[in-house]
Amino acid sequence: MIHTVTVNPALDLTYRVPEIVFDDTVRADQVLRAPGGKGINVSRVAARLGHATVAMGFAGGMAGQELRERLEAESVRTWFTPVEGPTRTNAIVQDHNGHQIRVSGPGWPVTRDDVAQLVESVFDLRAPDVLALCGSLLPGMPPDFYADVARRAIADGIRVAVDADGRELQTAVEIGAFLIKPNRYELERLTGREVGTRDDAVAASRPLLERGVTAVITSLGPQGAVLVAGDCALHAYAPHVEIDSAVGAGDAMLAGALVAAVDGEPWETVLRLGVACGTATAMTPGTQLCERHDVEALLPKVVVETL
Ligand SMILES: Nc1ncnc2c1ncn2[C@@H]1O[C@H](COP(=O)(O)OP(=O)(O)OP(=O)(O)O)[C@@H](O)[C@H]1O
Ligand SMILES: [Mg+2]
Repeated sequence: MIHTVTVNPALDLTYRVPEIVFDDTVRADQVLRAPGGKGINVSRVAARLGHATVAMGFAGGMAGQELRERLEAESVRTWFTPVEGPTRTNAIVQDHNGHQIRVSGPGWPVTRDDVAQLVESVFDLRAPDVLALCGSLLPGMPPDFYADVARRAIADGIRVAVDADGRELQTAVEIGAFLIKPNRYELERLTGREVGTRDDAVAASRPLLERGVTAVITSLGPQGAVLVAGDCALHAYAPHVEIDSAVGAGDAMLAGALVAAVDGEPWETVLRLGVACGTATAMTPGTQLCERHDVEALLPKVVVETL
């Protein structure tokens, strides 16, 4: 079981238009409505892989209700903390050439009580195998929110995974997370080292293990990903496929990696399933996530090398 926490989830509205023009009305051929947010994506991909998952975080208003319903319809259980402010909606306007204008709605401020309620609700359900804390905090949230939740989870024997940047990622190292999944830029900001090659990724990851992190997966976009855990350092090449939009690829990769880890698979399989999910997501248009059949077709094509 994988539980995910997304404090600032969203409802993504994608308008497909023939052409993006300014100062005139354009008619959309199609409007897609989908749940959005990093941890939300992790849960959605885990569910597509047939894994039981619960999405947690704040949700409010009609958009929050729709978010819940859409997730439940995709076999993602929801356990949101209700808040007064409406869940944000993001607008994506995409033309026929794939060009996009992406507008991210602001997150509504939450109160101290809301935060306290979320912390409690994370521990309401039976303990999961993994708790994934994803994305940045809302403005005004206590900066030690992730540390508090993670420490309590770890004390309960739950493995904690973090996909975030900046201070939230630093926190993951401080609490000794089970898994972190930075991309190369996030790893650079975390460690202050340049990460241009797979060897750089290994060198930057090793000190993080010494500080208590169990595994670091650094995603390198089209160059695949590097996993470092214990004495093991692996690089998986992303298969060559036709790429449409890599939005959400990193979230899908984390989902694949966590599903394999919870199933007790070796690190090689953890990395392989992560890369297959990431690349399968990069094949789909816009914010759409991977399909299971694409993941299964890519899996044998992911080449893993020991470093
Ligand atoms: N152009 C691409 N070609 C093939 N695979 C890709 C491509 N872009 C991403 N991927 C796959 O997705 C994985 C994660 O991608 P990436 O490094 O872009 O994550 P990210 O920056 O965290 O993305 P995001 O946070 O936007 O979801 C890569 O390791 C790779 O397997
Ligand atoms: Mg990412």
